[in-house]
Amino acid sequence: MGSFSCFDTIYALHYKPGIKMTEAPRKILVTAALPYANGHIHIGHMVEHVQTDIWVRFQKLRGHQCVFVWADDTHGSAIMKSARKAGISEETFIQGMSDAHEKDFAGFGIEYDHYSSTHSETNRQLSTEIWSAFQEKDLVAVRKVAELFDADTGESLPDRFVKGRCPKCDAADQYGDNCDKCGATYSATDLVDPISTISEKPPVSGETDHYFLQIEQLHDFLEEWTQSGQHLQDEVANYLKGHFLGEPLRDWDVSRPKPYFGFEIPGTAGEHFWYVWFDAPIGYIASTKEWCEKNGEDFDSWWRSEETEIHHFLGKDIQYFHCLFWPAMLKTAGFNLPTRVHIHGFLTVGGEKMSKTKGTFIKASTYLNHLQPEYLRYYYAAKLGPKLDDLDLNLEDFVTKVNAELVGKVVNLASRSAKFVQQTGLSASYPDDDGLFAQGAEQGDKIAAAYENCDYARAIRLILELADRANPFVENAAPWNLRKDESKAQELQDVCTIAMNLFRQIVIYLTPVLPTLTEQVAELMNDPILHWDQSKTPLTGTPINKFKHLAKRIDEKDVTKMIEESKTEAAEEAATEGPLVGHEYGDSEQPMLDKPLTEECTIEDFVKVDLRIARVVAAEHVPEARKLLKLTLSLGGEHRRQVFAGIKAAYEPESLVGRKVVMVANLKPRKMKFGLSEGMVCAAGAGGEEIFLLSPDDGALPGQRVT
Ligand code: 2FM
Ligand code: ZN
Repeated sequence: MGSFSCFDTIYALHYKPGIKMTEAPRKILVTAALPYANGHIHIGHMVEHVQTDIWVRFQKLRGHQCVFVWADDTHGSAIMKSARKAGISEETFIQGMSDAHEKDFAGFGIEYDHYSSTHSETNRQLSTEIWSAFQEKDLVAVRKVAELFDADTGESLPDRFVKGRCPKCDAADQYGDNCDKCGATYSATDLVDPISTISEKPPVSGETDHYFLQIEQLHDFLEEWTQSGQHLQDEVANYLKGHFLGEPLRDWDVSRPKPYFGFEIPGTAGEHFWYVWFDAPIGYIASTKEWCEKNGEDFDSWWRSEETEIHHFLGKDIQYFHCLFWPAMLKTAGFNLPTRVHIHGFLTVGGEKMSKTKGTFIKASTYLNHLQPEYLRYYYAAKLGPKLDDLDLNLEDFVTKVNAELVGKVVNLASRSAKFVQQTGLSASYPDDDGLFAQGAEQGDKIAAAYENCDYARAIRLILELADRANPFVENAAPWNLRKDESKAQELQDVCTIAMNLFRQIVIYLTPVLPTLTEQVAELMNDPILHWDQSKTPLTGTPINKFKHLAKRIDEKDVTKMIEESKTEAAEEAATEGPLVGHEYGDSEQPMLDKPLTEECTIEDFVKVDLRIARVVAAEHVPEARKLLKLTLSLGGEHRRQVFAGIKAAYEPESLVGRKVVMVANLKPRKMKFGLSEGMVCAAGAGGEEIFLLSPDDGALPGQRVT
């Protein structure tokens, strides 16, 4: 972020003195669908994230109190499977993915106010609260459901732990929830020739209890809520009526038997867990609650108050969760209902589904390795309408549009005039511009209405109309000619004052889409852009800073490189059959190549080595030894060990005193020339200066065993 980034956080709540508000301030809570923590963010996800971020930034720029809360969606059997495969706990797995997600969002300038996880204590409590409301209203039913079990371990098999042939298209090697090839969704028990991925044997059929929410009892409410008011787009309301509301609503199965990564259902003695889709949307409320606690806000005023608007953004594939189940949950538990659910279509690339082999399945991080985030934000904005149509990213059109419109029409206005007013600043009063600025100011209301209505394509068209009027003005006035004639200095200053103000007006309107450009322009023109209504008043008498390039044209070669990198990544991922968690950190494989893993050991082998936390209580040089330091380690109380460690090149003795280390405490003592060595400290690294002692996290105590 540039030098004006500090304003980002304050413009939501503070209006610039002297700027008149055009509307009464609203209190708006916004969410985007919670990204699933089993995979990385790709440019398909970014359609929704950019759409939401633009809307939030727009509301903030209008002076409303708008809060964007978000989280990772972390439960379910898919995550359990990935974590097992990676040999790490689910908690570690979801943390790694959450870090990666947050990095991608920051890269694209997605400015949420709070980012949480559905695996939080707050979410567990709220899920319990909503569950209790269903129980109190007698809306929970328990029924037996057919289930598959592993033949060897007897564990019940979540759908991701069973593979077989798709019951619809016969594709081999499909998981028990949906088919990769034809997109069909089904139950694991529907698979043809199923195999448990645990024992690789055919599973055994049986049944377990499942908990169901009887949402049919909310049918009248859902009919009313979906079909009246402005909660949904018309096509969504019609779809729900045609596909679901025309007949009784089926009970919703919201439980899964153990083993499952999620929250245990209270009172089921750890046997049953809430299905991921039960607690996922509750994450919206939990994230708000955490944000409220962090900011001293009253939680009830956000989720239990008429004065607050709630806006959800999501894709059409998950509309029935959000437009039927979710309102049913909110209604039952007495929370606010969504003011509006904004649903968008999918991304296609070159008119087709994103493809790993064609390199069009582009991860957010891969895009950012090659191209500026604002190009994609601009392109998506220019194509996003208020309906559910799919959005096509045509890569040639992307290059042309960004270069011709954003660089050629918008940024070019400043490139051609800023440098001529660098010495003088803007004219003291705004010159006659034949009504151009006033027309632009008037257009502001239409542009605002388009943003409000999620019709960003229309907003961009209206903004480009302004650029199409401003550019001929600059061409006719030709400041590059005026500057050759000293007697025309005032005219030159006036022409550039007009051009820079028309440019700034356009940039204010583009602020929700292009926050970085806005910051650059604020810096260039010495006037932070904090409120939409700044587009109504031209700047005069302001100094202009040295012009720096605001945006350069896209080089097609960068697009090609991005596609090639995506192909390589997809091939690597296919080889490991799953998301490569952590590869975004760029860790080299060299250490593993230098020292491959040693022979497998059993847990019995491992526990023979007694690793303990120890504190270094004394450290000194051993004058006769080139590599060794003599350490006195405390295991707590009176337990002391003397250890000679080969870490002299890497550590000064005094820097070690007081710190905690990990030691092998039951190593057979060894008599050395300088004395007895009674153990070993654990360290990693190549040797010499490249030695890194292991430290425990805060809280570990000397003497505690490391297991
Ligand atoms: O479809 C998905 O990717 C889900 N993770 C969205 C969840 S949205 C909300 F309900 F949490
Ligand atoms: Zn299929």
